[in-house]
Amino acid sequence: MTTERYRFFDQNPILPNVIEEIRQGLRESPKRISPKYFYDEHGSALFEQITDLPEYYLTRTEIGILDEYKEELSQIIDKSCCLIEYGSGSSRKVRLLINAIAPRFYVPVDISREHLDQSARAIHDDFASLHVYPTCADYTQTLELPDVIDGAPRCGFFPGSSIGNFERDDAARFLTNLRRDIGPGGHCIIGFDSRKPKTILEAAYNDTKGVTASFNLNLLSNLNRTTGTDFDPSGFRHQSFYNETLGRIEMHLVSKTTQNVTLDGETFHFANGETIHTENSYKYSLDEVKALAHKSGMSFIKHWEDSQAWFYVVLLRVPDAAESDVG
Ligand code: AVI
Repeated sequence: MTTERYRFFDQNPILPNVIEEIRQGLRESPKRISPKYFYDEHGSALFEQITDLPEYYLTRTEIGILDEYKEELSQIIDKSCCLIEYGSGSSRKVRLLINAIAPRFYVPVDISREHLDQSARAIHDDFASLHVYPTCADYTQTLELPDVIDGAPRCGFFPGSSIGNFERDDAARFLTNLRRDIGPGGHCIIGFDSRKPKTILEAAYNDTKGVTASFNLNLLSNLNRTTGTDFDPSGFRHQSFYNETLGRIEMHLVSKTTQNVTLDGETFHFANGETIHTENSYKYSLDEVKALAHKSGMSFIKHWEDSQAWFYVVLLRVPDAAESDVG
């Protein structure tokens, strides 16, 4: 086994044909654009600001839970494990886990090469005995983990309620893939935002400073820059609301007027009030979390929550080969 403490693994993920993807979304009715286009440099900085907003309770609540129960977690998760983080986002959370569990390996997986290298190097520099193997890949697709971690028990980490940005069926598909990455006997720690009263949820996605609105609208500027669309961001407004039946926050951009937008020679017409659906953020009851775990062939071990049950940190385990009847 290598003793190298840092190595960058590049799976050369296939980047989407952005123009084609946007064209398809704008041809649909209602129009839609994937939330992945929020995260250019400015959008990522706006998201960081969102995580500090008083209304956006998710980040601080999850950190509070991880902090309160890290000892208990560290007694369950193997110290010699490989911690695999899906999407190397806020390093505050993973640092907390690395401190508590003291894993042997840390494999952050992300599609954004530079950001991944930067954040992984910072972790490498701060944890003297940790082996850090950043892996550039699209974690929604099949993953090939670095062979240098072979044999180490694995623990997946998917914090931040990012699971909520998948459609419910896609969340089950993602967890099924994750189960295969982790392998029998491995664990995973996942953050879920709970179902709760509409007023609390809607405040979190409609903050008074308008940061979420800027984050949503920035998607149009990002597309103008990367695909050559001619959106006028001031011709749209941010809208978000809780769809209680589906248990999800929906974000939309509403056209303030009748207007046309062009992309690569094609014109898209917007009626006054017409929307582009930009994001769903699903909320989960504990029963829904358990059903999702079951559907993905994982065992629900336990969960931790804050005093208001606004957020769940969930521990799942991949059954040993003999226990599992899921292929
Ligand atoms: C990244 N994701 C979990 C955030 C969420 O809450 O769904 C993205 C976000 N959208 C608006 N505010 C934050």
